[in-house]
Amino acid sequence: MRKSIWVTSLLCVLATGQVVAQPTDDAMREYEQAMELTPNLENGKKVYRICSVCHTPEGWGLESGAYPQVAGQLPTVLIKQLADIRARNRDNPTMLPFTSPNLLGGAQDIADVAAYISQLPMSPYNGVGHGNDLEWGEKLYKDNCTECHGELGEGDLEDHIPAIYGQHYRYLLRQFEWIKIERRRNADKKMVKQIHNFTHRDIRAVLDYVSRIRPPKEKIAKEGWRNPDFPNFARPAHLHSGAGYAIDKRPGRPMRPE
Ligand code: HEC
Ligand code: HEC
Repeated sequence: MRKSIWVTSLLCVLATGQVVAQPTDDAMREYEQAMELTPNLENGKKVYRICSVCHTPEGWGLESGAYPQVAGQLPTVLIKQLADIRARNRDNPTMLPFTSPNLLGGAQDIADVAAYISQLPMSPYNGVGHGNDLEWGEKLYKDNCTECHGELGEGDLEDHIPAIYGQHYRYLLRQFEWIKIERRRNADKKMVKQIHNFTHRDIRAVLDYVSRIRPPKEKIAKEGWRNPDFPNFARPAHLHSGAGYAIDKRPGRPMRPE
């Protein structure tokens, strides 16, 4: 079996004169292409229409963590994640069909939608954890995460390290666990090593702390803000929008912060 795979690979190399492209190569190529283009916000808005169905018109996702907050994320991170998801270098079966070239477009559209999303103001509220182990969480954060994600969880534009402040706790939890068990294929190898010995308690404490770091004031939307680019968006009935953001009212959801 092994031998036949090896022989097939060799034949591919001989036939094409090069090694068959891996998902990481495809993603890397698209990332580099998109990074060279000048983004067009008007087109980004058009592309975002299809994304808004899940990520909401504001880009705030859901407190339940089913959909992440993408608003305010660094553009390089958005471009990398889109390229990775599309090349299947990060599994996301829910979103994958919407990243096909006929729906999402090419590298220019990726650059445009990333620029559009990154300038959206972030939710004044996001899902947080239980709040009873925050001192431990802060210590773990300072000892293990600041080197890459920054003192305040702001990430790094140049190295496409995600901003993690203001993200929904349950989304952070899912990604962190997937990174730890190496289910998220595009994970940073050094991060995997760094969190190798984290216990259940450690994971909950550090992510609760992260979910409560407030992004800078100028990045946060005013109370009651709605994205005026999508005036006719129909919100599902379980999302109550009266308090100025979508609160997931189903039982068992995390509470909004004080
Ligand atoms: C059908 C629902 C759906 C649609 C439509 C959708 N997404 Fe997503 N998206 C998701 C889900 C679910 C996740 C999180 C998957 C996970 O937990 O790994 C996600 C994750 C992401 C992430 C990664 C965020 C992070 O912090 O790592 C980005 C970026 C993103 N989506 C952008 C987009 C853009 C841009 C579009 C439109 C072109 C879009 N999405 C359309 C469901 C959707
Ligand atoms: C050596 C650098 C490094 C360290 C240390 C590190 N991370 Fe990461 N982390 C990354 C990179 C890079 C990514 C994005 C990988 C990719 O491209 O998908 C990431 C992704 C994440 C994500 C997923 C974000 C998203 O939007 O999907 C979470 C959550 C996270 N890190 C939390 C942490 C926490 C908490 C710590 C400390 C306990 C930590 N990381 C330590 C580099 C690091």
